[in-house]
Amino acid sequence: MVKQSISVDPRKTPPGPRGYPLIGNLPKMLQNPLQFLTDVAQKYGEVVNLGAMGSQQLYLVTHPDSVKYILHENNHNYVKGQNFQIIKQIIGEGLAVKEGDSWRRERRLMQPTFHRQRVGALVNLMNESIAQMLQNWGNIESGKPLDIFAQMMNLTQTILLKSLLSIDSHEQIHEMNQVWDTAYEYLSSQLWAVFRLPLWVPTPKNRRFVRSMTKLDNIVYRIIRERRSCDNTPDDLLSMLMDAYDSESGSGLTDEQLRDEIMTIFTGGFETSAAVLAWTWYLLSQHPEIEGKLHEELDCVLGGRTPTLEDLPNLQYTKMVLSESMRLYPGAWVFTRTNLQADEIGGYYIPANSLIMLSPYVTHRLSAFWENPQDFNPERFTREEVAARPRYAYYPFGGGQRQCIGEIFAMTEMQLVIAMVAQQYRLHLMPGHPVEEEPMFTLRPRYGIQMTLDARSSINNVPLLDERKALST
Ligand code: HEM
Repeated sequence: MVKQSISVDPRKTPPGPRGYPLIGNLPKMLQNPLQFLTDVAQKYGEVVNLGAMGSQQLYLVTHPDSVKYILHENNHNYVKGQNFQIIKQIIGEGLAVKEGDSWRRERRLMQPTFHRQRVGALVNLMNESIAQMLQNWGNIESGKPLDIFAQMMNLTQTILLKSLLSIDSHEQIHEMNQVWDTAYEYLSSQLWAVFRLPLWVPTPKNRRFVRSMTKLDNIVYRIIRERRSCDNTPDDLLSMLMDAYDSESGSGLTDEQLRDEIMTIFTGGFETSAAVLAWTWYLLSQHPEIEGKLHEELDCVLGGRTPTLEDLPNLQYTKMVLSESMRLYPGAWVFTRTNLQADEIGGYYIPANSLIMLSPYVTHRLSAFWENPQDFNPERFTREEVAARPRYAYYPFGGGQRQCIGEIFAMTEMQLVIAMVAQQYRLHLMPGHPVEEEPMFTLRPRYGIQMTLDARSSINNVPLLDERKALST
């Protein structure tokens, strides 16, 4: 139920910097979004009025309690922000932009596909792709730098395409890669645009985008058609989606819905994980003591062997490293909501149909909830520390009913990547390489991350965990 009445005086509006008519503070924000949002949160507090964005009023909300209120407690009053509707140009009516009953039905249908057990069955496939990448790395001339972000993009895209569509030919992966680059360029340029040229206006960017989308559509529809006409289907996520049946409505997904959901999973399912992994390698390279502790865990739990699904709960420190990396560099650095009715947030009046920015990046660095927030410190994610913090001081995967459906997939994949790579290599940042955040659709490293590989040699001498336990008793 949408909360019907609010008691706050409509004149009690949140503070914020003065802006221009129609475009509010957008020009300032777009110059350096992360700095701008961090600064205004610090200066004006937990709810900031950022002025107009077209016909809507734009706000930034950062306090964990208010984030919880929007995503969880009063989520019936909130729909996905209107600016994110641009993503429909790629995913059509996919899960990430659906609302109401049609969202509920689709989520019910798709949820089992991303269940822990189902994702667990993908561990071998993930490991094979990581092993293949490591084999390629073995052929690289010593000291030659690699762009680790590009490597992680290639890896997570390969894993996703194999898991989702059983695509594993290099040509097809390369083709999808190129299509994604064009889609990303378009998405990023349109996300915060107040005025948008319709796609039929033949600008070079529009034409490139339309061509890429047609190509992607052709590939995806061809795969769906082939699956429908074949009895012997591969065991992948698409097959699960095709078999999904909703007992309440008595139906499954049509070809068009399948196309939209494939595009949704493709759009949300690899770029974010690749960015998080790239930032993690960067952070580890800057903190040898933390890297050392990670190696200790890996050597102790795995003793040089390939991780299995059963190992993952024992790789606690690996998970803490990833969690801390996502605190500092949350792949989804911002997302938005629009409120259906006027609401009270943090004691302020928010008029109906506002555009509300929720930024994990800003909340994750609030000094009221994080001591020395700029420091990289995985110990913040011990069970006790997590329990002592408000739930929404940390929300890299969002929250409430729209929480990321791919969280288990992403965490499993990322833990395996860190475990397998760090067992074999230390990654060093190339001296002088600039590392800068680029907050576009996801939080990318602007110039990639150039790193060199340094093979670790001692792991084969490390006793297995059981042997260690025996030695210590
Ligand atoms: C580190 C990796 C990832 C991060 C940081 C991330 C982050 C997020 C966030 C913050 C949301 C909520 C957005 C909102 O409430 O507006 C979300 C939703 C979603 N994510 Fe992820 N995600 C990741 C990986 C994945 C993967 C691997 C998949 C699929 C394989 C995926 C599929 C989706 C989908 C379909 C939604 C929409 C869910 C709905 O609206 O019901 N994500 N993700």
